[in-house]
Amino acid sequence: MIKGFIFDLDGVITDTAELHFAAWKKLSDDMDWQFDRDLNEKLRGISRMDSIKVIMDHNNVSLKEETIVELATQKNDIYVQSLDHMTPEDYLPGAKELLTHLRSEGFSVALGSASKNAEKVLKQLNATHYFDVIGDGNSVSRSKPAPDIFLYASEKMGLSPERCIVFEDAEKGIDAAKAGNFYSVGIGPEERVGHADVRFDTMKEATLFEVKSHFKDLF
Ligand code: G6P
Ligand code: MG
Repeated sequence: MIKGFIFDLDGVITDTAELHFAAWKKLSDDMDWQFDRDLNEKLRGISRMDSIKVIMDHNNVSLKEETIVELATQKNDIYVQSLDHMTPEDYLPGAKELLTHLRSEGFSVALGSASKNAEKVLKQLNATHYFDVIGDGNSVSRSKPAPDIFLYASEKMGLSPERCIVFEDAEKGIDAAKAGNFYSVGIGPEERVGHADVRFDTMKEATLFEVKSHFKDLF
């Protein structure tokens, strides 16, 4: 029986990809690195430090670890500033409705995000109260595709993985859910999250009714 839901944040609850893009683009321009939307797609779901390493590899750049941390911090300062403009209007369509419905039906709900800024994002959206457990980039050290963040969230909810459904928009996020033995719902195109148990194009289609009908033996 499914008792809990674990949500990724960026790309599932709200769309921060554009803000991450703008911040990485600013840093890349300053550094004279090539960075475009295709490369930004590769950063979906992965940690800040893994992200900067992907960008550096793409540009055949190698730097001291200390410098890499400094540059990642510069990017983060730009990103965090841009979050000040985020408001409770900025849920992805359908996300708030699903969270509300899950609470009213008594399911446990957790966040399972790689972001170290998750608490700030939830605050800007006024979404903190939907979550029993907040698992973010500060909760575990191994990031997706390792299952650690989802295992942390399920353990804190007191549920085994096979009683939880993970919502993810990233390829590596679905890999992480599968590695942890969770059921998975992919949000996005087939080529990105087609390996999830169930896939919807957007959160708008992911109503509790639809989710229950796809996993009917589990409710
Ligand atoms: C999410 C996003 C990634 C981002 C990561 C870390 O998973 O999808 O693009 O790199 O969080 O975010 P942070 O806010 O800690 O830099
Ligand atoms: Mg995501």
